[in-house]
Amino acid sequence: MDIEDKHVVITGGTDGLGLSLVKLFLAKSAIVHVISKDPEKLKALEKELNNKLLHVYTADVSDFNQVVKACSEIWKVDVVINNAGIWLEGLLDEYKYEDISKVIDVNLKGPIYVTKALLPKLKSSPDAHIINISSTSGLKGVAKQSVYVSSKMGLKGFTETLKDDLVGSNIKVSGFYPGGMNTRLFEKFGTIKDNQKWMNIDKVAKIILFMVEQDNTMVMGDVVVTKRVK
Ligand SMILES: NC(=O)c1ccc[n+]([C@@H]2O[C@H](COP(=O)([O-])OP(=O)(O)OC[C@H]3O[C@@H](n4cnc5c(N)ncnc54)[C@H](OP(=O)(O)O)[C@@H]3O)[C@@H](O)[C@H]2O)c1
Repeated sequence: MDIEDKHVVITGGTDGLGLSLVKLFLAKSAIVHVISKDPEKLKALEKELNNKLLHVYTADVSDFNQVVKACSEIWKVDVVINNAGIWLEGLLDEYKYEDISKVIDVNLKGPIYVTKALLPKLKSSPDAHIINISSTSGLKGVAKQSVYVSSKMGLKGFTETLKDDLVGSNIKVSGFYPGGMNTRLFEKFGTIKDNQKWMNIDKVAKIILFMVEQDNTMVMGDVVVTKRVK
């Protein structure tokens, strides 16, 4: 897909990988629609980037009423990148029930709600693509990540099923499974990681752009990217 003038929806575009994606797609002259939960951060993003191709919408992706409202304001959609996510780490008996619920709601229900709300508009695009950002924690169990892994494996299941449901349609579906990246994901939820040397989000964002840029005779169905062990 030639991304210039295409409408790209990115959830969680105010920070981390999502923010790198927003900047990269704008630099390629895509029309970028950011859905995120914090109106102040969205306002600051608009001010910082000062780009007419950027449109922002406040919604908590775990709240389907907010998702439906935000998505109804987006008039055209070619690409959806379900990126918004949150972290939870520890043993199951240490978790609070409400934190378990929140992680499943944001990381799993969020992409399902956003995809459902935007599907009619994606169907109107001549060439559409949905990319779901899971994690290498969505590929196998990891100690002290029982709920996060469950949310990301659930997202893998959603992605694979959607792929089958949309075979033969105009919509491609891909799962993206990154290893650790140098974002503030962990510290926002009280975990300090020495992640400065983990994968660089600007480089990871370029791989996602490359997936989107493939023409409609090919699909990069599942992409796993991890830091090279030297
Ligand atoms: N960092 C890693 O090592 C890593 C590894 C594998 C996979 N991932 C996945 O990659 C994705 C991006 O993570 P990141 O590391 O870039 O994290 P991040 O820097 O914390 O960015 C997450 C983004 O999602 C937004 N967000 C959080 N909860 C939301 C909600 N309920 N509704 C709408 N937006 C919400 C955040 O908004 P605020 O800025 O307001 O919080 C932020 O813009 C996530 O799905 C994550 O699980 C990350």
